[in-house]
Amino acid sequence: MNTIDMPGEWEQVADRIKQDAKTRVVTCIVIGKIDSGKSTFCKYLTNTWTASGIRVGYVDSDLGQSTIGPPTTVGLKLFKTPPHQHDYSNLFDLHFVGNTSPEGFLLQTLHAVKKMVDKSRQQGSQITLVDTTGFIDGPVARVFKLHKIEMLRPQWIVALQAEDEMEHLLKGYEKMGWRVLRLTCSKEVVTRSQAERQRYRNERYKAYFKSAKVIDCSINKVVLPSCILGTGQKINPLELPKEICIHGTQYLYLEKCGSELLIIIDRLDESIPYYKLKGGLNVTSISSLERLELKDLIVGLNDRDRNTMGLGTIIDLDPLADKLTLFTPVQDIQKVTTVYLGNTKVEQGERECGRIRAVRYL
Ligand SMILES: Nc1ncnc2c1ncn2[C@@H]1O[C@H](COP(=O)(O)OP(=O)(O)OP(=O)(O)O)[C@@H](O)[C@H]1O
Ligand SMILES: [Mg+2]
Repeated sequence: MNTIDMPGEWEQVADRIKQDAKTRVVTCIVIGKIDSGKSTFCKYLTNTWTASGIRVGYVDSDLGQSTIGPPTTVGLKLFKTPPHQHDYSNLFDLHFVGNTSPEGFLLQTLHAVKKMVDKSRQQGSQITLVDTTGFIDGPVARVFKLHKIEMLRPQWIVALQAEDEMEHLLKGYEKMGWRVLRLTCSKEVVTRSQAERQRYRNERYKAYFKSAKVIDCSINKVVLPSCILGTGQKINPLELPKEICIHGTQYLYLEKCGSELLIIIDRLDESIPYYKLKGGLNVTSISSLERLELKDLIVGLNDRDRNTMGLGTIIDLDPLADKLTLFTPVQDIQKVTTVYLGNTKVEQGERECGRIRAVRYL
């Protein structure tokens, strides 16, 4: 930490929270815009507190530039002694979200952070420290962050501000009775370009997928919560009435459950008579998955206890053969009960290659 600029107020903040942690279990959340020095400050706090014998649970809810765990997840690491840089790489636990930012995955992010904070406390952390993404601007971020605060109920909110960019959040928190400590961002903070951020994420994927293998899993044995797959009645396309039959597609899987129809097809095709399908099959919504588009999509693999066992990327989803083929380091694939679809594609487990909406509603 020699090259780190540590203003005197950092020590005061660390000390104040440390004193509090002597009498009760504490959660502290650090917020700030992108490149405000959040992670550097969190590492400083972790070092300082563990040096005084405090057990710290570091919850890394930064989904893109995370220190702990691969991108698209919230990671947890427990520290009893001051960590070295490489100590951050062996994480204790993680929970899958699916995107490299909370946008479009607000519920998943809240759930994952809460889960990891609870886990940290269960493991006996005296201080649970939550590092966050720089998602602070605008009404969506405001509502999201407020719900995060309400769920985690932190004893301390530390805000790293360059100017007044977080006052639209902080003034509200104070009125509601939360304790806010404001710090000024260090002048030494180095901003990173999108390309650097992307490179960093690719390194993290590569490290995570290092031991990954190609594994098949039976679709019948798992749930994909983002669609009805495996929960309804399979429809044979050849038995559809003439006026709604679908021609010329190479791959076609249809399933109906309640008022929903699921279509899995190689590529969405304008010749498919969606409106006729709705009427003909008496459904109010059609969800579709484009099989070829799903290739390389990141997924979270959860077990019966709703813990994330690990991540994978899709090689193929073939419900006609009851087969989901994944590239994953998870070994006990038979223990997977739930497959959560993300929106980020990672080629060969080492290179981000775009984003998609896995399920589209028609
Ligand atoms: N107090 C400081 N002294 C010296 N360098 C710093 C300081 N704070 C941050 N930096 C440098 O600035 C860069 C960004 O800092 P950091 O990763 O802590 O920011 P962040 O807010 O966590 O960013 P992100 O929003 O991407 O998560 C890093 O290279 C870090 O080493
Ligand atoms: Mg950070």
